Amino acid sequence: MNKDELIAILSDETKNDWLFKKADEIRRQNVSEGIHLRGLIEFSNICKRQCKYCGLRWLNKEVERYRLSENDILSCAKNAVMLGYRTIVLQSGEDDYYDTDRMCRIIKDIKEFDVALTLSIGEKTYDEYKAFKDAGADRYLLRIETTDKNLYKNMHPNADIENRFRCLYDLKSLGYETGTGCLVGLPGQTIESLADDILFFKELDADMVGIGPFIPHGQTPLKDVPQGDFWLALKVMALTRINLPDINIPATTAMETIKPNGRIIALQSGANVVMPNVTSTEYRAKYEIYPNKICINDAAEQCRNCIENKINSIGRFVSKDYGFRNNH
Ligand code: 5AD
Ligand code: FES
Repeated sequence: MNKDELIAILSDETKNDWLFKKADEIRRQNVSEGIHLRGLIEFSNICKRQCKYCGLRWLNKEVERYRLSENDILSCAKNAVMLGYRTIVLQSGEDDYYDTDRMCRIIKDIKEFDVALTLSIGEKTYDEYKAFKDAGADRYLLRIETTDKNLYKNMHPNADIENRFRCLYDLKSLGYETGTGCLVGLPGQTIESLADDILFFKELDADMVGIGPFIPHGQTPLKDVPQGDFWLALKVMALTRINLPDINIPATTAMETIKPNGRIIALQSGANVVMPNVTSTEYRAKYEIYPNKICINDAAEQCRNCIENKINSIGRFVSKDYGFRNNH
C-alpha cells in the first residue's frame, strides 16, 4: 500500500472489521496457526535516557532501581527453558553497567541452553552490536517509536533519530533478525506519521514489528496526556501484517494493559507472537515502563499456563520451533 491508501484506511472507522479479518487471513496464509512465545527477562530498570513517555527515564527518582546479577539472569533463563520457551528476550534500560564483556558472557551462557536469543537493550555502536552477534545473539528489538522527526525530537531529549536509524540498519547488516515498532497515541502524532511508520517498517524490511498504545505514566512529563486508542494501535498492527505478510508480530503487553483480552484480539487481527514475562515476581512491579502492567504478581509458570490456555481457547497452538522469520 502507498501512503495515501494507508491514510485512507487509518482514518476510516467503517472498515475496521474488514481490516482485522484481512490481517488475520494474511497471517494464517503466511505464518500459519502456531504462536511463538518469547520469555522476557527484564534484567535492569536502570536507564540513562529521558524518553518523556517512559516511567524508567533517568529523571524519575521515584522508581526503585534494580539490576539482576549474571547468575540471576541465568536462572531466569533456565526456568524459561524448562517452561518450554524456545526464545529468551533480554531487555533492560540503557544501563552501561552491562558493558560489552559482561553482555557477551551472558549471551554465551544463555546460548548454551539451545534457545534463540533476542536482545532489547537500546542504542549501541556498530562494534558492540557486532560483538553481541559474534557471541551468539540472534535477534534485536529496537523500536523507532515514531518516524516523525519533530515528534521524535520532542519525545527524546538529547537523542538523535538519525542514530536510531543507523542502529537499525547496522543490526540488519550484521544479520540480526531485527525488530522495530512504534507507539500509537503520542501527543501531536498524526495519522500521516503513523502511515510513514508503516512505510518505514517496509523500507527497513523489519523481521519483527511491535506496536503498542501509549499509556501515560504519572511520574513523567506526559502524565496528563490521554492514553493511546486501542483500536487505532490495532489498525496500525493489522496494516503492518498486510504490508509485511511473513514477519513476526507480537500481541503486545501494552494492548492487554488497556483492554482486557487485548492480546487475544491482537492474535486474531494479525499478530502471531506473545512475550510473557519470565522475570522473578520480586522485580516485575519495578520495571514500570507504564502503569497497571499486567502479570506483576504472577510467577513465570502462571503466565506460561495462562497464555497457553488463552491461545488454545481460540483454536491456535503454541509453536515448538524457535520462531525465526521464514521458519528456519
Ligand atoms: N506506554 C506504552 N509503551 C511504552 N513504552 C515506553 N514507555 C511507554 C508508555 N508510557 C514502550 C516503548 C519501548 C518499549 C520497551 O516500551 O515503545 O520501546
Ligand atoms: Fe501472565 Fe496471563 S500472561 S498471568
